[in-house]
Amino acid sequence: MAHNLLQGKKGIIFGALDENSIAWKTAERCVQEGAEIVLTNAPIAMRMGEINKLAAACNAPVIPADATSLEDLNNLFTKAMEHFGGKIDFILHSIGMSVNVRKGKPYTDLDYDFFHKGLDVSALSLHRVLQTAYKLDALNEWGSVVALTYIAAQRIFPDYSDMADAKSLLESISRSFGYHYGIKNKVRINTISQSPTRTTAGSGVKGFNGFISYAEKMSPLGNATADQCADYTVTLFSDYTRMVTMQNLFHDGGFSFTGISYPVMEQMEKE
Ligand SMILES: NC(=O)c1ccc[n+]([C@@H]2O[C@H](COP(=O)([O-])OP(=O)(O)OC[C@H]3O[C@@H](n4cnc5c(N)ncnc54)[C@H](O)[C@@H]3O)[C@@H](O)[C@H]2O)c1
Repeated sequence: MAHNLLQGKKGIIFGALDENSIAWKTAERCVQEGAEIVLTNAPIAMRMGEINKLAAACNAPVIPADATSLEDLNNLFTKAMEHFGGKIDFILHSIGMSVNVRKGKPYTDLDYDFFHKGLDVSALSLHRVLQTAYKLDALNEWGSVVALTYIAAQRIFPDYSDMADAKSLLESISRSFGYHYGIKNKVRINTISQSPTRTTAGSGVKGFNGFISYAEKMSPLGNATADQCADYTVTLFSDYTRMVTMQNLFHDGGFSFTGISYPVMEQMEKE
């Protein structure tokens, strides 16, 4: 069901790794809604070759960029503007990675080189993307930027480890840059805090199955899927949400504001 919400808009989508990726679903939805897009991912992720399928389906070029490299980002924005023949209207930042989580390091025994790497990839990359766009004046007035985050930025989920700290920083950067880009040319910047979702990044967290079924039981509407996240993101890229900026928006079926639910109470009473 498409409504041409993004007719005439042009965007860059970071982070489509395979068909489970939130960015993959979002790319498809943006194109269904009339947008033209450029796809990008880290050169290492491209080797899997999956992104080329998406590129063909979306009639989109793929421009590799490591989101921690200013040189790559400069090249990406310059080439994207050449391709579109003008400026960009929206950006999806759908990038996350913690080496400590991947290697199962507990929060009380972190490796600091891994920690730095995780912060750089998962949080500072948003600043780099925004600063590059800002300096190149690459975004149109009323442009929209969305980055994906998780509620571990506000509440403790022990095995989310240093990703929680990276997400807190990501949300803070989106607020801070939201101010500066807002006054520069009315660009809005928000984070979407998504339910746990079965993807490569999501499944890297220890105990993910428990995580996902607990969240399902605690959410009055159930967990939000990647497709539903894509729908929500489209609304934030559209002209219907022009005055929404610097917000962390929960897209989680009500999980974030539920104290206890009937299914969890029933489960606890059995113990
Ligand atoms: N899956 C979940 O449960 C969940 C929940 C809330 C938020 N999120 C967030 O959603 C976003 C997308 O993750 P996903 O779940 O779709 O998983 P995913 O593994 O499909 O996507 C993560 C992407 O980050 C990219 N990436 C990693 N390092 C990079 C770099 N240096 N430069 C550029 N790209 C790089 C990967 O190649 C991959 O495409 C992440 O920010 C993640 O933290 C995921």
